[in-house]
Amino acid sequence: DWTPNAFVEETVQDLKDQLGNDKVVLGLSGGVDSSVAAMLLHKAIGKNLYCIFVNNGLLRKNEFEDVLHQYEGMGLNVKGVDASARFLDALAGKSDPEEKRKTIGRVFIEVFDDEAHRIQDVKWLAQGTIYPDVIESVSATGGPSATIKSHHNVGGLPDFMKLEVVEPLRALFKDEVRRVGASMNMDSQLLGRHPFPGPGLAIRILGDLTREKVRILQEVDAIFINNLRSWNLYDKVWQAGAMLLPVNSVGVMGDERTYEKCVALRAVESTDGMTADWVNLPYEFLQKTSNEIINKVKGVNRVVYDISSKPPATIEWE
Ligand code: XMP
Repeated sequence: DWTPNAFVEETVQDLKDQLGNDKVVLGLSGGVDSSVAAMLLHKAIGKNLYCIFVNNGLLRKNEFEDVLHQYEGMGLNVKGVDASARFLDALAGKSDPEEKRKTIGRVFIEVFDDEAHRIQDVKWLAQGTIYPDVIESVSATGGPSATIKSHHNVGGLPDFMKLEVVEPLRALFKDEVRRVGASMNMDSQLLGRHPFPGPGLAIRILGDLTREKVRILQEVDAIFINNLRSWNLYDKVWQAGAMLLPVNSVGVMGDERTYEKCVALRAVESTDGMTADWVNLPYEFLQKTSNEIINKVKGVNRVVYDISSKPPATIEWE
């Protein structure tokens, strides 16, 4: 029978045998899969695991600092790379969803390759690929969660793509990954995190991006997520987030007429993201959250709640 403890013991031994004294590079995303993969490798090879955590400027509010700090606390050899400006500059003026995804994917590869290049004699690229990624083999773009195929001795590719690939979670489903993490005493908040797309807030800001729009959405998202936590709703929801709409609408604040942005909140239940249904959040929760957003976030004067299921809608709006 499969148990997380036996899996950890066996996998760590296999990784030791396979990797010996070799150096391994791994891209952390802040998500469950890459974090658990990193922890297994850390147990097997310690300081020979070089983790890279890239801030693309499109993460949740304070996420880069908080998660980096948490990784350091876990003893991981991790380098945080703040490439926000590079991503946001590359995205300026781009409004097409696929163009935004491609741009983020390209800049990520450039940044990751620069960093991987600084590690002398690195032999392996580790990835947190899990079984559903293997069978789908649809490679999502935009971050370390994306599956990157290995190519051997092919010219013109980034150097890190020429590395051998090691994927210790290849045979596991998401719930098994969480159990493996728990058996290594990883933080339950880290293991229970909602999925978050590689392109981050870029695909939740409809149309073109500016730093101001990113700031507004980070504030809105933080209020929504914190409230879900304080109402004990976070763990009942599969994924939640806010979308910044390319719409201004008229409102009134004090005796002044406003003409400001509208945000949509989305919370869904799902098992694998392929189908999803909106969550029937309590009216009182929605009321308090909406008031808090409009009162605290400058630039927003209207909040709506998305009650579309997937299909035919998708979870993200782009
Ligand atoms: P949709 O919007 O297609 O999303 O219903 C399904 C799940 O996939 C995530 N998602 C992405 N993840 N890169 C990613 O790494 C992407 O480009 C991307 N687009 C969507 C989405 O957050 C949801 O969990």
